[in-house]
Amino acid sequence: MSASTLNAEILKKDFPLLGRTVRGGKKLVYLDSGATSQKPTMVLDAERNFYEYHNAAAHRGAHQLAEEATEAFEGAREVVAHFIGAHTREVIFTKSATESLNLVAYSLSAAESPIQWRPGDEVLVTEMEHHANLIPWQEMAKRTGARLRFIPVTDDGQLDLTQIDTLINEKTRILSFTHASNVLGTVNPVRRLADLAHAVGAIVVLDACQSVPHESVDVTALGIDLMAFSGHKMLGPTGVGVLWGRFEILESMPPFLTGGSMIEVVTLESATYSLPPKRFEAGVPNMAQAVGLAAAIGYLQEVGMHAIAHHEEDLVTSAIAQLETMPGVKVLGPAGPRGGALSFLVDDIHPHDVGQVLDDDGIAVRVGHHCAWPLMRRFGVAATTRATFYLYNTHEDVSSLVSGIRRAQQFFGTTS
Ligand SMILES: Cc1ncc(COP(=O)(O)O)c(C=O)c1O
Repeated sequence: MSASTLNAEILKKDFPLLGRTVRGGKKLVYLDSGATSQKPTMVLDAERNFYEYHNAAAHRGAHQLAEEATEAFEGAREVVAHFIGAHTREVIFTKSATESLNLVAYSLSAAESPIQWRPGDEVLVTEMEHHANLIPWQEMAKRTGARLRFIPVTDDGQLDLTQIDTLINEKTRILSFTHASNVLGTVNPVRRLADLAHAVGAIVVLDACQSVPHESVDVTALGIDLMAFSGHKMLGPTGVGVLWGRFEILESMPPFLTGGSMIEVVTLESATYSLPPKRFEAGVPNMAQAVGLAAAIGYLQEVGMHAIAHHEEDLVTSAIAQLETMPGVKVLGPAGPRGGALSFLVDDIHPHDVGQVLDDDGIAVRVGHHCAWPLMRRFGVAATTRATFYLYNTHEDVSSLVSGIRRAQQFFGTTS
């Protein structure tokens, strides 16, 4: 396979679930990878192999299996670190991006936080955040008394940076934002925002849930401090997420969860904590899931992240071009360059009804507020229909989506 192309028709065969039929024999067209991706056989095999041959509690026990489990788990950490251009001691396994973001928000607002919170301090997020990168900061604001501020969104779905010099100011302690919008497909200018935030001494947190699975991400090039993403959106298993952080910052942060395996010395009254990453991995870790994630990364690398990004861009560009010619269909978000999330509205048909007609045809899309309720309000809608594309989607899938929308319009009598 060349660096810039991939054959989705062939890749599809690696994903057992994509071969099934739904709704009485209809071929499945899976356009909901933004919610969760499907898993190739090699990921399923990697998890199964761990349980069949190496299962034991990592970092505990003196026996061979415990040693193998530890090696497998730590090997997975190396794979993740290499994938995002990081050092292994900077990679923390969590259960999800949601947990990673909560970990950061709790730790940075704890009594031992490296941030000395002062009255008037501000935390800056954007109007396009997934609830996972909004509510933890709302809760943090309650605990610290900080003021939560928001970078607004323009009508075409970009961050409105006209007031950025006042929004990022000497009171800003944290800037947290999404790399790519899960609703609009917008790709945000990470480096520019990170540099502005660092100039006032703020910590920069990136929600990379919708970027790490789809393009090559290098944490150093992005110039950020902390980053969260989920394994299940990048061909890996559920139950494993990642928090990456610059070691100096992680080292200064107190733990979020406490318990086994994250300690140095424990007495009845108190405990001292290990260095990161162990400080943030209390309890027996999600070993099989981490091993599965490493296999998923291996698969993505084999296909090539540039080829994946190029392929998705091709699909989404074609989908937008076709939807924009359809009377009564409105695409939300920027024209491009953009990620693979495509939200749209169909005149006089509720997104749930669009979703149902598509589902009747075997086409799986997401409908609703996409866990980004404030963004829905910004656009004056309660919900959208969203198609998301991944490496295993084809131009035929795009055609199915377009025909499905046409059928919905015919069914509800909104076109002639
Ligand atoms: C942009 C973004 N952030 C955070 C999340 C939360 O991810 P998870 O549910 O895997 O924790 C999602 C999931 O859809 C997302 O799209």
